[in-house]
Amino acid sequence: MQIVSCVDYADMSRKAARIIAAQVQLKPQCVLGLATGSTPVGTYKELIRFHRNEELDFSNVTTVNLDEYYGLGPEHEQSYRYFMQHNLFNYVNIPPENTHVPDGLTRDVARTCAEYDNLVASLGGTDIQLVGIGDNGHIAFNEPSAVFVADTHLVDFFASEADVPRQAITMGMRSIFSAKLILLLASGPNKASAIAGMLKGPIDPQLPASILHLHPNVMVIAVKEALALV
Ligand code: PGA
Repeated sequence: MQIVSCVDYADMSRKAARIIAAQVQLKPQCVLGLATGSTPVGTYKELIRFHRNEELDFSNVTTVNLDEYYGLGPEHEQSYRYFMQHNLFNYVNIPPENTHVPDGLTRDVARTCAEYDNLVASLGGTDIQLVGIGDNGHIAFNEPSAVFVADTHLVDFFASEADVPRQAITMGMRSIFSAKLILLLASGPNKASAIAGMLKGPIDPQLPASILHLHPNVMVIAVKEALALV
């Protein structure tokens, strides 16, 4: 794993966006695996800036997102489809039909999950997969568990201890691992313990990000406080 230490969030965002922009320039029909959450927002802002100021062209790019809340449709402000529209897709020239987020309103979860993995495979995998990491070491909605799950699947999770269980559809490890390059972004001292655990190993499904040791090309781009325990 390559580790890139950044002075602050803006620095992390610029570094990640430059790598993605270079991929789009070198291979205009590339496949980008995208993530939601607070961490990649700055990266998407930079990509929008590249599109506006430097004519970075997304017209042949295809995207596949990691996950979606089960039960939320694209118009719901908490859905990840909504997040992607409002943080990136609406502001670059990517054709809407080239953007893929799991269908949170599906009535046939098993089929939706299988079709999502088939989609990623039919695209030849992703060229770059952007991922965040949870305080607990999760990757997308692959939460600490007894086993790693390969397929796209439905998960139960608790947003907080007092919360009722909620559900999400998440890529499993096979589609995440289809990436030629996995870019893991982390910012904030709350990520330091998960990052240290991931880098130190062992590979343990109780720390899902630890499986990234098995991927040949992972770059961790992290603000220095997230690397404080490394
Ligand atoms: P965050 O979430 O970007 O909002 O910190 C990352 C994650 O939980 O994967």
